[in-house]
Amino acid sequence: MVPDRPAAARLDVVCGIIGYVGGQPAQSVVLDGLRRLEYRGYDSAGIAVLDGSGALLVRRKAGRLENLEKQLGTDLHEGSCGIGHTRWATHGGPTDRNAHPHVDCTGRVAVIHNGIIENFAMLRTELEAAGHELASETDTEVVAHLIEDRIGAGDDLATAMRTVCRRLDGAFTLLAVRADTPDVVVGARRNSPLVVGIGDGETFLASDVAAFIAHTRDAVELGQDQVVEVRRDGYTVTDFAGLPVDGKSFRISWDLAAAEKGGHPYFMLKEIEEQPAAVEDTLRGHLANGRIVLDEERIDEQVLRDIDKVFVVACGTAYHSGMIAKYAIEHWARIPVEVEMASEFRYRDPVLDRATLVVAISQSGETMDTLQAIRHAREQKATVLAVCNTNGAQIPRESDAVLYTRSGPEIGVAATKTFLSQVAASYLLGLGLAQARGTKYEDEVVREFDALATMPALIAEVLATVEPVRELAREIARSKAVLFLGRHLGYPVALEGALKLKELAYMHAEGFPAGELKHGPIALVEEGLPVVVVMPSPKGRRTLHGKVLSNIQEIRARGARTIVVAEEGDTDVRPYANHLIEVPATPTLFQPLVATVPLQVLAAEIALARGYDVDKPRNLAKSVTVE
Ligand code: G6P
Repeated sequence: MVPDRPAAARLDVVCGIIGYVGGQPAQSVVLDGLRRLEYRGYDSAGIAVLDGSGALLVRRKAGRLENLEKQLGTDLHEGSCGIGHTRWATHGGPTDRNAHPHVDCTGRVAVIHNGIIENFAMLRTELEAAGHELASETDTEVVAHLIEDRIGAGDDLATAMRTVCRRLDGAFTLLAVRADTPDVVVGARRNSPLVVGIGDGETFLASDVAAFIAHTRDAVELGQDQVVEVRRDGYTVTDFAGLPVDGKSFRISWDLAAAEKGGHPYFMLKEIEEQPAAVEDTLRGHLANGRIVLDEERIDEQVLRDIDKVFVVACGTAYHSGMIAKYAIEHWARIPVEVEMASEFRYRDPVLDRATLVVAISQSGETMDTLQAIRHAREQKATVLAVCNTNGAQIPRESDAVLYTRSGPEIGVAATKTFLSQVAASYLLGLGLAQARGTKYEDEVVREFDALATMPALIAEVLATVEPVRELAREIARSKAVLFLGRHLGYPVALEGALKLKELAYMHAEGFPAGELKHGPIALVEEGLPVVVVMPSPKGRRTLHGKVLSNIQEIRARGARTIVVAEEGDTDVRPYANHLIEVPATPTLFQPLVATVPLQVLAAEIALARGYDVDKPRNLAKSVTVE
């Protein structure tokens, strides 16, 4: 159980952090890193820089990073060691005072933090009773004062951090610097991410490799409950007790260009364009010698054969990919699948046992709702498989098997390329389960995989013909609401289309199963209301096609403006579409990979026409590490 959080606290749960020590001016390295981390939170930003003369400069400012940069102006500090932070607050308005870094009473220790210190209220009371003066309302500040006490007792910074961490409950990544040791940054990690970047005569610490990818691609992943001390010439990792441990080294497979906008005005638009490659990379190498292989499998094949039920748990966009996973797994592997929002899962006491497979889908691998769902599942002896875009994140670490979606970094807060990769990974998983359980012959699995491998080219075709969607977006940008209808696999596509529009354009948007229309939603239809309909293929399940066609007529009769996503050559639907968006024909199960793309573009373009920043929608954060 996660204890209730004290209501008055300003808690920082999805933040970007970076630390640097080396030969370059720390201030510019840190600000540059923060720019790439800003997607993690943008309520306030701050830095601390120290130099050899014993000076500690701290600057912090509410609002986006540019506010801090304006405040810094020409106030360039020459130090070569520093830390920086971008914040996303959960409670109350973010202020200068609550922005990180936080300092101790002496002003010689500065601390930044991502996560929640759950027992901070008790620690704060204790510190105040001992005479400390706390200047902010944050949970983070207690750490600066606790470190101050330990340094007073003779500890060096790393030892102080270890001692303090042993007293903290909750999830945290902490970085600290101290004026008296101007060539050291100390970091600590529990549940929140932290990686070390190893450069030539310089070392980095960050919550995400995007922060230092411009400088090095060699990185070390820290484990749970570890403290790291970084210096120019290297780093030392210990557990919280001070025992030495080895970090896990890895080479970052993407480069700086991947973390930048590549000529697009927004990351999201670039990420939409990158979808063919994201799907291709996600599929690459997963068929070897005629068999589907996962990335990291720590599950005995017999366990997969004995599974009698699958739960997919996920949040937001990942949840919609989970709905598609259900269709694929049930169709190919003939196992019942339930899809559940991760935040609901453990609270209803789901029936789980050794014969249950829980699939956790999470782009970030950090989402606390999903993490807690898999922890609950494992306690009940279920087997857990993660589908994740972030190497070594907490969810894959705590899972029995991992299938990575190789989308590269996704900076836009609203998920696009990672969604299509999650869908592709779901198909791989369905085929993998069918193979393990013998519900498909090996050559059938290979045939399905081969068909899947043609999808990146079809996604590219959609992107090449999407221009009319941009014009349409400008036309409907002033509408108050948009409905989305779909049936069978078109239903999750409709939900995802509606979610994108809510997230980006702040418009009322709802997705419904087309068959459910007559049971209520049709009451919403009025003259001029734009309704997006995702048509099933006219081939194969003709009855379904005919039924959705009838739905279109029903809403047109009531004045709706129909925007129809249909397969090329679907001539039957043409007379009933005010706007027709054609997508290439695909095998039925794979339709979401092409049908979702125009809806992403539609949402982005409507948002832009309304004047919004599509990379940083209001009130949202890319990964949400709080329940
Ligand atoms: C947040 C993001 C969504 C995302 C969801 C799940 O709410 O704003 O875009 O779909 O988290 O994130 P995950 O990292 O677990 O896929």
